[in-house]
Amino acid sequence: MDLIHQAVPELDLEQIDLSQEFLGKRLQIPLLINAITGGTERGREINRALSELACQFGVAMAVGSQSIALSEPERRDSFEVVREVNPHGVIIANISALAKPDETLRVVEMIKADALQLHLNVPQELAMREGERHFAGMLDNIRQIVAAASVPVIAKEVGFGLSRESAAKLFAAGVKIFDTGGQGGTNFVMIEDRRQGCFNAELDQWGISTAVSLAEILSLGLPVQVIACGGLRTAMDAAKAIAMGAELVGMAAPFIKLYSGAGEGALADYLQQWVYRLKAVFLMTASVNIRSLQQKPVLIKGQTRAWLEARHIDWRCWSR
Ligand SMILES: Cc1cc2nc3c(=O)[nH]c(=O)nc-3n(C[C@H](O)[C@H](O)[C@H](O)COP(=O)(O)O)c2cc1C
Repeated sequence: MDLIHQAVPELDLEQIDLSQEFLGKRLQIPLLINAITGGTERGREINRALSELACQFGVAMAVGSQSIALSEPERRDSFEVVREVNPHGVIIANISALAKPDETLRVVEMIKADALQLHLNVPQELAMREGERHFAGMLDNIRQIVAAASVPVIAKEVGFGLSRESAAKLFAAGVKIFDTGGQGGTNFVMIEDRRQGCFNAELDQWGISTAVSLAEILSLGLPVQVIACGGLRTAMDAAKAIAMGAELVGMAAPFIKLYSGAGEGALADYLQQWVYRLKAVFLMTASVNIRSLQQKPVLIKGQTRAWLEARHIDWRCWSR
């Protein structure tokens, strides 16, 4: 997809307001450092560094799956550190959609989370020799989790995308926030193949892209919020997702790659430059804020357009 350049934007860079209300708090940038880690000493260090970054820039952060901290309480501090360093920020808990409702309450409490991500990762489990094979009853489990939850629940894919059918079922189960976790970035089938030898190569490309997933969910016209995540890397990617109607943009791999490669010190520089470029795209599309960008025309082309046409999804009329 493309955004359209405006040669006479009539705006100053300093006027651009990227802030966004989310979960009753105000983010400075519509960005989520998405679920990555926890549970080990290294995981604790990574979570501390990412949480400091989230606090400094006013962005949201989700922790990695907390199930390990339920069975091994000595690992809790690798997650708790995230709340300790960012007491007022938007912090999101994470556990499998197959977790028991009382477990979900415990992971939220562990980090005083503002919301709970339930990860949906069927292809990843199937790609693991030791993975889960029982998925029947997941929707009912989600319904029970939502009913018991003290905070909003986010249904989150981890890289295979959410279709409109899945989103509609999840909405009926009470979910009002979706994380596309679309195909195009981190690929857990490939990761599992590398980890355990080629097992599922023919499934490496399985899934729904982030752009398509975003359109699939938004075209339902439901009163929901959608986080676009999965393969989004550049500020331009982020601007396009926001223009399509995403509430926030999520990224995972770029942060962990930068941390592992260039070190903690590189994170703030990276994000500062990313934010500068995001503001630049807002200015070049004559958008003073998120609402204004979401009213701008978007051009949907190529494979994404073909998919939406084949699915009879009219991308011109979904609510943004
Ligand atoms: C190293 C790593 C660990 C991850 N661990 C989790 C996890 O514990 N729970 C989860 O819901 N998603 C997890 N994810 C998925 C991300 O949150 C995100 O949905 C996915 O990577 C797509 O975003 P990306 O292409 O920007 O990486 C992990 C991703 C990476 C790269």
